[in-house]
Amino acid sequence: ATEHRIALIPGDGIGTEVLPPATAVLDKVGARHGITFRYDDFDWCCERYLHEGAMMPANGLDQIRHHDAILLGAVGWPGVPDHVSLWGLLIPIRRQFDQYVNLRPIKVMPGVPSPVRSAEPGLEFVVVRENVEGEYSEVGGRFHRGFADEMAVQESIFTRPGVTRILDYAFELAATRRNVVTSATKSNGIVHTMPFWDELVAEAGLRHPDVRWHQEHIDALVAKVVLDPSRFDVIVGSNLFGDILSDLAAAVAGSIGIAPAGNLNPSREFPSMFEPVHGSAPDIAGKGVANPLGAIWSAAMMLDHLGHPDAGAEVVAAMVDVLGNTPVRTADLGGTASTEEFTKTLLDRI
Ligand code: NAD
Ligand code: IPM
Ligand code: MN
Repeated sequence: ATEHRIALIPGDGIGTEVLPPATAVLDKVGARHGITFRYDDFDWCCERYLHEGAMMPANGLDQIRHHDAILLGAVGWPGVPDHVSLWGLLIPIRRQFDQYVNLRPIKVMPGVPSPVRSAEPGLEFVVVRENVEGEYSEVGGRFHRGFADEMAVQESIFTRPGVTRILDYAFELAATRRNVVTSATKSNGIVHTMPFWDELVAEAGLRHPDVRWHQEHIDALVAKVVLDPSRFDVIVGSNLFGDILSDLAAAVAGSIGIAPAGNLNPSREFPSMFEPVHGSAPDIAGKGVANPLGAIWSAAMMLDHLGHPDAGAEVVAAMVDVLGNTPVRTADLGGTASTEEFTKTLLDRI
């Protein structure tokens, strides 16, 4: 039997409601495959910040550095500025554990209507988001205040190694799929970093001659994702473009409540982190109605990452089964099931 040590960080809002379903699913599928999970729970969240002045302890990252993986709910709550909560917890994990790939698959599930007419069940593509540099940088001033024309400034950082490694990841992933990479860009002369990104995309194309690639300006690209999503296989984008594309793509698949994410450290020097794409959803938190599928699918991605693709595939198959063959679903998908009822139905099908 295999045992994995998992760091659980439920975080804020519905993050605390969607992680228990994810661990219940892991335990159930694990039992079928001889895998046991040992969870360590970390109460790092906005409430901790309000009591102790920090989202996590000073040695927080050392406490989770040796876990096999991290499962996170969501970070952020009204009353604590988002830049404080996020730079205090989520972003340091991604950066210090060099989780430079944010992998965000999209699948139109049977029984989940897409708002996009041409998006049929089975349609799927993946957003590969650069996750540690780009527009999300710490370089440059923040606010320059105290005079009439006050301002905020932040520099984008695109490094040759940083861009090259995310592009290689995207091209190699495409080579295992339908062989097409779409690069999100904005190279028409305004954003100075993007011609450099494009140059490195062309180089990556030369290194991967069997993969077809093209680039689209981000503004036109978002329109195409809505109008004709079936054209896409792997979409690769910078940190901010990838962020925006992944919520858009989740909406194309029917709900942001389903979409999963893997923050991957491909070298495996540090643990990778799995979390739903959505946030803490203050508008529905505490009501027990959040869709747990984003967290559950993230847990399935964690199974893949830990070397159990069969177990991961069983979880995804159970999701497809419940959505396709039962009326049980949460309110975001037009149903009336609570988080708990939905989870129970899913567990019965694993
Ligand atoms: P959000 O994703 O929390 O919510 C957007 C909308 O989607 C809301 O109407 C919400 O009710 C709905 N929604 C989200 N997840 C759902 C689910 N599982 N089931 C049903 N409906 C769901 O985004 P937001 O409102 O922009 O952000 C709220 C807070 O979460 C902010 O503090 C933000 O910074 C934080 N946030 C954190 C993460 C993260 O931890 N990775 C991601 C996004 C936002
Ligand atoms: C996400 C979130 C985060 C991001 C925020 C909360 C910092 O939107 O994981 O997509 O932009 O990376
Ligand atoms: Mn986002």
